[in-house]
Amino acid sequence: VQAEKGGYDSFMLKEIYEQPQAVRDTMGARIDQEKKQVILPELNMSDAELAAYDRLYIVACGTSMHAGLVGKDVLEKWTRVPVEVAVASEFRYRDPIYTDKTLMIVISQSGETADTLAALREAKKSGVRVLAITNVVGSSVAREADEVIFTWAGPEVAVASTKAYTSQVIALYLFALYFAQVKGTLAAAEIAEVVEHLQELPAKIGAILANVEPIRQFAQSIQDATSLFFIGRGLDYAVSLEGSLKLKEISYIHSEAYAAGELKHGTLALIEENVPVVALATQPDIYEKMVSNIVEVKARGAHVLGFALEGDRDLAKSVDGVIHVPATTPMLTPILTVIPLQLLAYYTSAARGLDVDKPRNLAKSVTVE
Ligand code: G6P
Repeated sequence: VQAEKGGYDSFMLKEIYEQPQAVRDTMGARIDQEKKQVILPELNMSDAELAAYDRLYIVACGTSMHAGLVGKDVLEKWTRVPVEVAVASEFRYRDPIYTDKTLMIVISQSGETADTLAALREAKKSGVRVLAITNVVGSSVAREADEVIFTWAGPEVAVASTKAYTSQVIALYLFALYFAQVKGTLAAAEIAEVVEHLQELPAKIGAILANVEPIRQFAQSIQDATSLFFIGRGLDYAVSLEGSLKLKEISYIHSEAYAAGELKHGTLALIEENVPVVALATQPDIYEKMVSNIVEVKARGAHVLGFALEGDRDLAKSVDGVIHVPATTPMLTPILTVIPLQLLAYYTSAARGLDVDKPRNLAKSVTVE
């Protein structure tokens, strides 16, 4: 097993470090280098069929559902098609509103999660076309879906998902760009610009992974906490949910993610002296609003760990410490912000002496209901 970990002390850390490659492989042949466009030759439907869809459901569990939340914002922004994200265990017992222009996307690393598979089967029974994003060739989800976009993350062993998440988000970016291409909702030049940013991501992830010491120190500062909060707005909120899940899964510290603007409607009551708050402020459109939320928690004594874009000199004034992530186009930032959050969870768990790869009570793939 030690050899399989490739010199790392856990599968999780190894898989975190495999992300530049996983992201590169998932983009791989799906980018037309010359035209700077996306190609998805695996789709069985024609461009005209795809362009006709005007409503999307994204259904998944756990970390895969969090990837779906990033996908929703991106799909809506680039295609103007409404997207609803649902957890599979809820969705399968709902009475969803389908039309003949509804497409369902299921996301599953393993392709074997019972609730996700059941939701897929229900949709198919209703005549809805299902597109799967999965990491496992030959899995039940891959076999039963009408369309499959594989993530090429390679086998993921650690229970806490890392490289599968980033690869799923990449698959969603590619699908969203392709959908926008066939719908004509983005100009060729806009697509080319995003594609260039996409291609720079592996190197930027690599840069984050080359400088983990500040994140390890953050982890030390929260390792004895009993409860902490992640806050963000927009895409930062989607990433907050994943950062919070990662931390609670493997460190057993109680943690909640909140849309920062919603704090004052209840959660702010829990902020007192030295409660750690992880605050993400990477989204330019809502940056000022986010800073005011940070000031609100600081005023109540919170110990705030901020995440900002490279070049941001302001956030440091309002927080107790800042981690900078490389700049990219705002829609793609989640892929970069999530990396230090994964590392934060990893180092916190390791500092607490816990089994990083096999957290108590959890399974890699939940194949029973
Ligand atoms: C389990 C795993 C999670 C994963 C979720 C969904 O809870 O521990 O890491 O996100 O299942 O799994 P899937 O294979 O469907 O993506």
